Amino acid sequence: CGIVGYIGTQAASEILLAGLEKLEYRGYDSAGVATVREGDIHCIRAKGKLQNLRDKLAGDENPAQIGIGHTRWATHGKPEEYNAHPHTDTARRVAVVQNGIVENYRELREELKSRGHEFRSDTDTEVIPHLIAEFLSLLPSNSAVSPHSRFLEAVRQAVNKLEGAFAIAVISADFPDELIVARQQAPLAIGFGSGEFFCASDTPAIVPHTRAVLSLENGELARLTPLGVEVYNFAGDRLKKTPRTLNWNPILVEKQGFRHFMLKEIYEQPGVVRTCLEAYFNDDWTASNEQSPIKLDLPTELCADLEHIQILACGTSWHAGLVGKYLLEQLAGITTTVHYASEFRYAPPPLTAHTLTIGVTQSGETADTLAALSMEQTRRLGKSAEFKARLLGITNRPESSLGQLVSHLIDTHAGIEIGVAATKTFSAQLVAFYCLALELAYRRKSLSTKAIEKILDGLRLLPAQIEMVLESQERYIEELAHDFAETQDFIFLGRGINYPIALEGALKLKEISYIHAEGYPAGEMKHGPIALLDAKVPVVAIAMPGSLVYEKVISNAQEAKARDSRLIGVTAANEGEESDVFDQILPVPLVDELLSPIVTVIPLQLLAYHIASRRGLDVDQPRNLAKSVTVE
Ligand code: G6P
Repeated sequence: CGIVGYIGTQAASEILLAGLEKLEYRGYDSAGVATVREGDIHCIRAKGKLQNLRDKLAGDENPAQIGIGHTRWATHGKPEEYNAHPHTDTARRVAVVQNGIVENYRELREELKSRGHEFRSDTDTEVIPHLIAEFLSLLPSNSAVSPHSRFLEAVRQAVNKLEGAFAIAVISADFPDELIVARQQAPLAIGFGSGEFFCASDTPAIVPHTRAVLSLENGELARLTPLGVEVYNFAGDRLKKTPRTLNWNPILVEKQGFRHFMLKEIYEQPGVVRTCLEAYFNDDWTASNEQSPIKLDLPTELCADLEHIQILACGTSWHAGLVGKYLLEQLAGITTTVHYASEFRYAPPPLTAHTLTIGVTQSGETADTLAALSMEQTRRLGKSAEFKARLLGITNRPESSLGQLVSHLIDTHAGIEIGVAATKTFSAQLVAFYCLALELAYRRKSLSTKAIEKILDGLRLLPAQIEMVLESQERYIEELAHDFAETQDFIFLGRGINYPIALEGALKLKEISYIHAEGYPAGEMKHGPIALLDAKVPVVAIAMPGSLVYEKVISNAQEAKARDSRLIGVTAANEGEESDVFDQILPVPLVDELLSPIVTVIPLQLLAYHIASRRGLDVDQPRNLAKSVTVE
């Protein structure tokens, strides 16, 4: 979900809507805004995309200068208008928007109901305005709490009752000059303008107005008035905080002539890979000068004597983790395990010594990943030196919650990604893993200088090779996509380092075209999935010539062909045996197998994109998904 808030001297409505537009990638089941207008809460909500809310608000000149807004990704309660945020208390004096889940909402709701509160939705959020209203009524105006702090105090008491993860923004008809926000395990940033202040789940909603931004930390709440911002902890102590100035490239949040953000982001990949390589290659490195070829600035206490690496991630970032495992094991010789963050937390493996834990997340906000990392940190607290937690994050959003949680970060320099299906952030995560594996290989002397040089040279060629694939393939793949308008199932096959790419190709297609797709290690197909194959199920096989497993992938592909499947090959070869095996070839340059995932993934991204767009689907905001899932 995405939340926004505004207090200042301009009409709030349009600012809130514009902010929600920038956050729509976080959820788009329903949306709503509430303002304080002529002494009342004025709340308008609509089911579906933000445009529906816009249509409802059209023509309404609302002069209110304070308000909150929300774009929802449904967790508790169907995506209906009555479940859309903002939610209000019985008397409709307090309105709240929330991102997160209040875990103890059932008991709170029952208690509140028994005291006469009336509920109008199925959401967990609705308990919050009721709690705040109740605490307000319990704070008599003659109490020790100054009138100036009453609203803040009631919100503070309410958040202390909540369990779970939440970021909230609250307004009240009785306190028309105050906007209160609070954060516990869900992101919330405050923007400092002059005489006006903003809050939002993510910075794109704030930067059009100001680059002075303060990210709240867990357990903090803030009171925004036209005169300034005060920050407190949940115990009520005032905290001293200063906003920082964001470096922001506005081009990243505009489509720039592309039909979709996803396509634009696919095309940004050569640049992103180049920037990431430039950031981490040590240009002064020579075979003999005793410097690392990579400059990641990772301290010795993080990397020395590593015996085990565990990678925690979700979705596409988990796939990047699988490529990372291959590289860390094969180049640096360190046993590496990759876990779904959502599974790791509840069944963590036994503690191993000298272990580096890497969290990979493009948004830096995925609740499952953050929770797994903090759990790992907590269970290692107080343990002897060899079991001490060593945490490293890989993300393109260094300013995110991940950045606050881990002591060290690799910034992948991909910038913000708007299309819900990850593309450029994935290739940038891969580059980060190449750099990390090389750095560790250098430190552990597990690779010869010559071998390192060869990999560095290969990596340098990648941006141009991605460009080549984009230039030569896009038209062809757009045409090819016609053939799959009616297809219902797809199988993707790959082996070795390209097995995760088969998974990623399948995930991309599922996410945006809603076609059922599965990725398998090519050798596993004969052990089950082959039963699914017939002329209606196309098979995409990634087969890089020159690789150890090339012949094997080709013979696995033959097995599929023998079951009448249409065979599409992602391969560097285009003659001889391959042209007999594959019905279609999506050619990529001849790249060393070790480096090939960054080029083999490109045609698969294009294939998913063009099939979805041919089907007329909303590529950037596919149904049921959200770019950044801040609930567990
Ligand atoms: C969401 C997105 C996926 C993404 C996953 C992990 O579910 O829809 O595309 O891969 O989260 O996101 P992260 O930000 O942690 O990389």
